[in-house]
Amino acid sequence: MPELNRRTFFKGAGVLAATVVGAQVLVACSSDDVRGYGGEPRTLPIPPADLGTREGSSVHFALEAQTGESQILPDVTTKTWGFNGTHLGPTLVVKKGDDVHVDVINNLDEMTTVHWHGMKLPAIADGGPHSPIGPGQTWSPTWTVANDAATLWYHPHTHGLTGLHAYRGLAGMIIVEDEATDKLDLPREYGVDDIPLVLMDHRFLEDGSLDEEDLPDLGLLGDTPTANGITNAHFDATTRRVRFRVLNGSNMRFYNLAFSDTRTFQVIASDSGLLDEPQDRTTLAIGPGERWEIVVELEPGEDVTLESVGFEDNYGVPDDEFVPDFGMSDSFQLLTITGPSDDAAQAPALPGVLVKSTEPDVIDATERTFIMNTFSINDLQMDMQRVDVVIDHDQPEVWIVTNDNSDWPHNFHVHDARFKVLKFEGTDVELFNDGWKDTVGLPPGATATLAVEFGHYPDPQWPYMYHCHMLYHEDQGMMGQFVIVEPGDEPAAVLGSGTGSSIDSAGGHAH
Ligand code: C2O
Ligand code: CU
Ligand code: CU
Repeated sequence: MPELNRRTFFKGAGVLAATVVGAQVLVACSSDDVRGYGGEPRTLPIPPADLGTREGSSVHFALEAQTGESQILPDVTTKTWGFNGTHLGPTLVVKKGDDVHVDVINNLDEMTTVHWHGMKLPAIADGGPHSPIGPGQTWSPTWTVANDAATLWYHPHTHGLTGLHAYRGLAGMIIVEDEATDKLDLPREYGVDDIPLVLMDHRFLEDGSLDEEDLPDLGLLGDTPTANGITNAHFDATTRRVRFRVLNGSNMRFYNLAFSDTRTFQVIASDSGLLDEPQDRTTLAIGPGERWEIVVELEPGEDVTLESVGFEDNYGVPDDEFVPDFGMSDSFQLLTITGPSDDAAQAPALPGVLVKSTEPDVIDATERTFIMNTFSINDLQMDMQRVDVVIDHDQPEVWIVTNDNSDWPHNFHVHDARFKVLKFEGTDVELFNDGWKDTVGLPPGATATLAVEFGHYPDPQWPYMYHCHMLYHEDQGMMGQFVIVEPGDEPAAVLGSGTGSSIDSAGGHAH
């Protein structure tokens, strides 16, 4: 297997160029020397928007996990997995207040699960490792959308196999809409000026199949970036203002988003919804599992590229031979973009205020600490029948999360929740952590103090997860479980279906 080399990680691009971006030098290499990565840029595929079948506020979706073949690389056929298609999945569009029903049909020949990342919902509908769907079986969760407008996503959460299943292509976006956001003058025409952008990275074998071998300590870190499932993607804008909903669906890779001319863009939403006000940025870190919505202005006819520029400080990871190369200094193109035609209408300014969010009240809140180190949290690895945290109230909590490794990055994701980052310490790496989030990046040594607001659906039997969203870490057991109960209640003696492998009791409806 070829060693990952940060200097040659650059395979999606077909150009010869050297661009100076601030202090960072992007060295673009010709792709012709790498089998299969060359060729013309291809049009960015847009996952179909799936509005479901609607009757009033009740909306029904069917998602079928299946195998297929795709052309992630131009003219190379790769076996992939997808929902309702050969690779990735449709973008599910729901509204706050909707009663959602999903039939998740497993047409694979192995067990999987589907988790609604970022959604507040009853644990029995959350789709974690306690909700396996066997081959040929259907799992039919139902819940009422409590989230504000946001970009969420869905992916498998099969214990020990989450990374592999997502890597094969089981991932899709969820757009939650709400009335207040509908009234804002934001780009919202899906596939036109409101563009889903699912970032992943892969490795390929000589025969074009996905390289599914875990690298030591790095798991399924890839060397070839993709956007919506293809390399070297190109977007021809038809408007002067474009909103990208960026999802990092990669197993292990952190991206540092920037445009090739270092232009300023505006961040309008974090993982869990709109920021109070648009924020100007020239770079933006996005770790595995995170989402950002950004808006970029485009001049007619211009060419600009959305890139990932290496983290100047290597994300706080020491750059020495004894530390695995997490790819933090890699630079590469993600999406080439051409501006609209001359007659495209001028874009009105973005609203100055997007939402008036309230801060969670955490005076006297319960405080908990989580120490992340290598593959464990608080010295423990995932146990499907161990309850790590019991929450017996409906108030926000303060979770203090530390990356105790001096040389590994981690991040931290909480199910059924959104949080604000109150404090971020212990590192010189500066991350943009505004707004409501459900996943926070943790450079070596970092401590994030989170005010966490949970969906309140007491159920002693069904646990939720918190974990590192670097999926190799999660699959190695860097995950814990919390149960929400009525005041004074205890978690059930046996969690979930009891076995974690039987669909019979894991299926069905939330209430
Ligand atoms: Cu996106 Cu528990 O995961
Ligand atoms: Cu999640
Ligand atoms: Cu981790």
